[in-house]
Amino acid sequence: MDKLRVGILGATGIIGQRLISMIESHPFLEVTSVASSGHKSGMTYGSAVRWLLPEPLNRKYSEMKLIDAGRVAELAKECDMVVSALPSDAAGLERDLAQFLPVVSKSSYNRMRSDVPLYVPGVNEDHLDLIPHQQRVNGYKGFVSCDANCSSTQLAISLKPLMDLEPQSILVDTMQAVSGAGYPGIPSMDILGNVVPFIQDEEEKIMSETKKIMGALDRNNQSILPRSIDLAARCSRISVQDGHTETVFLRFRRGVDISEVRKALEGQRNLNVKERTYSFPEKLIVFHSAVDRPQPRIDAWVSRGMSVSVGGLRESGGWVTFTTVAHNTILGGAGGAICQIEALVKRGII
Ligand SMILES: NC(=O)c1ccc[n+]([C@@H]2O[C@H](COP(=O)([O-])OP(=O)(O)OC[C@H]3O[C@@H](n4cnc5c(N)ncnc54)[C@H](OP(=O)(O)O)[C@@H]3O)[C@@H](O)[C@H]2O)c1
Repeated sequence: MDKLRVGILGATGIIGQRLISMIESHPFLEVTSVASSGHKSGMTYGSAVRWLLPEPLNRKYSEMKLIDAGRVAELAKECDMVVSALPSDAAGLERDLAQFLPVVSKSSYNRMRSDVPLYVPGVNEDHLDLIPHQQRVNGYKGFVSCDANCSSTQLAISLKPLMDLEPQSILVDTMQAVSGAGYPGIPSMDILGNVVPFIQDEEEKIMSETKKIMGALDRNNQSILPRSIDLAARCSRISVQDGHTETVFLRFRRGVDISEVRKALEGQRNLNVKERTYSFPEKLIVFHSAVDRPQPRIDAWVSRGMSVSVGGLRESGGWVTFTTVAHNTILGGAGGAICQIEALVKRGII
């Protein structure tokens, strides 16, 4: 089988770099085009990028010429699909590209549109069946399908096993790594030895996205009916390089024994881990009994960054509470997008 030719928009950024690195050894994907902002157009990727990963940049990428991401026609000629890792204020062009080819997006720009899936690995692969409707209504040859925000991805994976237990109220407090803000991100003088207790728009994204992710596809595969969840979020940026930490508090409608919660999390209940694709981890949730785990420095890299570590499960003042850690630029970033492409190929949508 010929490899699928993938173009990366935002190729010089943190997520773009991870995509290039992870696709390098992929069995049926290859990066054939790299695009960024117009002022770097025509430069070689190697001269334009500030390469941040420990593995060296392969020469075949460093010699590629950067395309202006706005040159939709050129990209459409050179690729079978694109992954967009653009900031949301530049992602308006995703729908222009969708006229010609599939777009899997990491950006928030299209996430909440009613005709766009908001994919989380193992949680809502069936939402991808919304795509034929989007294509019919818009007359697209391609489509736009989004990945959820990194914090919403991690939260949704940890909540999915518990939805049968009927949580009545959910609170989440996030401690987010600096790499979540892109490169160069937040100034070192603001974050070193510090906690910044606010991230623009992040709380709203977690609250609205989680309801859509946990929602159900309607019978005609034409829309997602959001799940009604009583959810509140607080977000802080902390001085950690990679790996977001989330503390989750739940109250259940009926009395739920903490051992039931543990069984559901440990057993990865309701998570679709059986139909695994190539990049999908064997365990989407890695459960820790130790009271002081998970921690981002130790646990963000489990399953090469593709699992959510969950631990510290206990009761506190009538709430069931636990802590999660996941790699924001891998599971919540490039790895999530690659899983989505694999799921689209498996379902015959690409
Ligand atoms: N970092 C994370 O943990 C994470 C996780 C999940 C989702 N995301 C989302 O993924 C996207 C990329 O994030 P990132 O962390 O990789 O950001 P980043 O490091 O700031 O990279 C942004 C990329 O977009 C390009 N770009 C900026 N403005 C552009 C414009 N007007 N036209 C075309 N290209 C433009 C940049 O190219 P130049 O080099 O030419 O400026 C760069 O390649 C964002 O939407 C972000 O919210 C990030």
